[in-house]
Amino acid sequence: MKKYITDFTVVGKHVFNESYFTLTLKHPSKLPEIAAGQFVEVDVPGNKAVMLRRPISIHDVDPEKNTLTLLIQVAGKGTRTLSAIEEGATLNMVYPLGHGFSIAGERVLLVGGGAGIAPLLHLSKCFAAKGIRPTILLGGRSASYIPVQKEFEPYGTVGFATEDGTLGERGMVTQHSLFTTAYDHIYTCGPTPMMKAVARFAQEHHIACEVSLENMMACGIGACLCCVVDSDEGHKCVCKEGPVFNINRLTRWMAQ
Ligand SMILES: Cc1cc2nc3c(=O)[nH]c(=O)nc-3n(C[C@H](O)[C@H](O)[C@H](O)COP(=O)(O)OP(=O)(O)OC[C@H]3O[C@@H](n4cnc5c(N)ncnc54)[C@H](O)[C@@H]3O)c2cc1C
Ligand code: FES
Repeated sequence: MKKYITDFTVVGKHVFNESYFTLTLKHPSKLPEIAAGQFVEVDVPGNKAVMLRRPISIHDVDPEKNTLTLLIQVAGKGTRTLSAIEEGATLNMVYPLGHGFSIAGERVLLVGGGAGIAPLLHLSKCFAAKGIRPTILLGGRSASYIPVQKEFEPYGTVGFATEDGTLGERGMVTQHSLFTTAYDHIYTCGPTPMMKAVARFAQEHHIACEVSLENMMACGIGACLCCVVDSDEGHKCVCKEGPVFNINRLTRWMAQ
């Protein structure tokens, strides 16, 4: 798929709390097609200490308005600088990067944790466009770690799991009453221990499963080899061959 490098204009910003915010970015002309699970590499402006672009999933796409939205968690200096960006600013992005999720299955479960919730909104909409309502299970330490909640409701059955019980059921997503063997496909993005637990469950119960890995990245296009995962076919660049992988290719990763 062709990659672009484009200046987008920030046309919307929503701050949920001190950790999470969204930026809505307008493309100067028609947006190309973007698969759920693909990501952008954002140039962080105005901070000389942040030389490398930062990888961020595409949270939402509006092809009519030619906008895309990023859901960002403040993790360090780059994302903190992005959190200070205001409407009207310009952000340069390389996009759409990586391979996204397949849109397969009829009884579908999406499992997101923390900032890994980001790619699941676009994924939910892709399923809804096919007439499939997925079950969407979102988890975090507490309610403030699940900033996007109502946005999912039009597209599926939504459940929440928080470790402190401040939203939905208390506990991990894998302990939630919706986390069962009732599905033929599971898609997941979030912290690595969560994804491994979900993937192992899917493997054990012969349910097809795709995980979206968030390895540290630099170039984002397969040139620097800093993002490799130990797949069953050898080391693979997560930025180019992923970030989405079928767990059939990751039995070594799952066992680590
Ligand atoms: C394909 C992909 C998609 C992503 N999508 C999103 C998204 O939609 N929303 C979002 O908020 N974040 C996302 N991330 C994570 C995001 O890229 C990092 O949080 C960000 O690069 C950190 O940059 P920083 O300068 O703020 O932090 P730094 O100052 O560089 O580092 C601060 C801390 O963050 C950790 N960190 C840095 N990079 C990553 C990473 N890739 N994964 C986990 N921890 C990291 C560092 O180890 C360090 O502890 C994604 C990562 C990848 C690879
Ligand atoms: S980030 Fe450079 S090869 Fe993946």
